[in-house]
Amino acid sequence: GRVVVLYGGQSAEREVSLKSGAAVLAALKRSAVEAIGYDPAEGGLAGLEALSPDRVFIALHGRSGEDGTLQGALEVLGIPYTGSGVLASALGMDKQRTKLIWQALGLPTPQSVMLGPEADWSSVVECLGLPLIVKPVHEGSTLGISIVDSRDALASAYRDAARFDARVMAERFIEGEEYTVSLLAGDVLPPIRVEVPSGFYDYAAKYLSDETRYHLPCGLSDAEQAELAALCRAAFEAIGAEGWGRVDVIRDAKGRFWLIEVNTVPGMTDHSLVPRSAAHAGIDFDALVRRILATAEE
Ligand code: DAL
Ligand code: MG
Repeated sequence: GRVVVLYGGQSAEREVSLKSGAAVLAALKRSAVEAIGYDPAEGGLAGLEALSPDRVFIALHGRSGEDGTLQGALEVLGIPYTGSGVLASALGMDKQRTKLIWQALGLPTPQSVMLGPEADWSSVVECLGLPLIVKPVHEGSTLGISIVDSRDALASAYRDAARFDARVMAERFIEGEEYTVSLLAGDVLPPIRVEVPSGFYDYAAKYLSDETRYHLPCGLSDAEQAELAALCRAAFEAIGAEGWGRVDVIRDAKGRFWLIEVNTVPGMTDHSLVPRSAAHAGIDFDALVRRILATAEE
């Protein structure tokens, strides 16, 4: 039957999604799967239905694609789709409510507070210390995120984040190493340590720079890797995520892991992390795409 790859969309991560979707589509074609690409920003759901897909591969990042709304529409239409369902997709897109669930389960995640235009900046700094992170609650690819190192810089960081989202949070900054862990069909893939010369794994370091270093193997001992894998699996399952995804983590100077977020439709561009991790596990890009497609079941 026919597979429709959804890509593009209307979110701030549209450009990333166009790249992810093109790569997925090419892989499906190489695997002789009958597949076509479709941008819901152009023809809406009616256009998708008109294609009568047997299954949908979701390569949309951010709002109206990764956040549960599309998943709900596909449920109503009865079209199987890859990855997480409605609830986990919505939670994964909400960094703050994801944290509330982790905290309730005793999983480690940096402390955070919600910000508003009238926030008491001094008490935010008192609570979280400096530097701290300001981020939109529902955004991806580091858009709208800043590291703030003085109280006076907080208000403008808030305004930058508020351009992306009505809800903005501040989070304690954890000094340490950045790891990312991919999950695929019940398996945890090898962790990657990401090292950025500029110190901040932002949009440019993610998609544009050739200086970002991806350490694979990541350099942790077997015991530490097992601890990290178990933590990421627990974090993924805590929000009910399914199929595939990626959990981002910081390891502090004492070797303690801190959960940052879950991505339920991680990037699949040539700079992206899940494909690198899969390749290290012996799963080439085309096989990875086939395995993700297989998560779309009724
Ligand atoms: N939000 C981007 C696409 C990622 O997590 O890879
Ligand atoms: Mg993200």
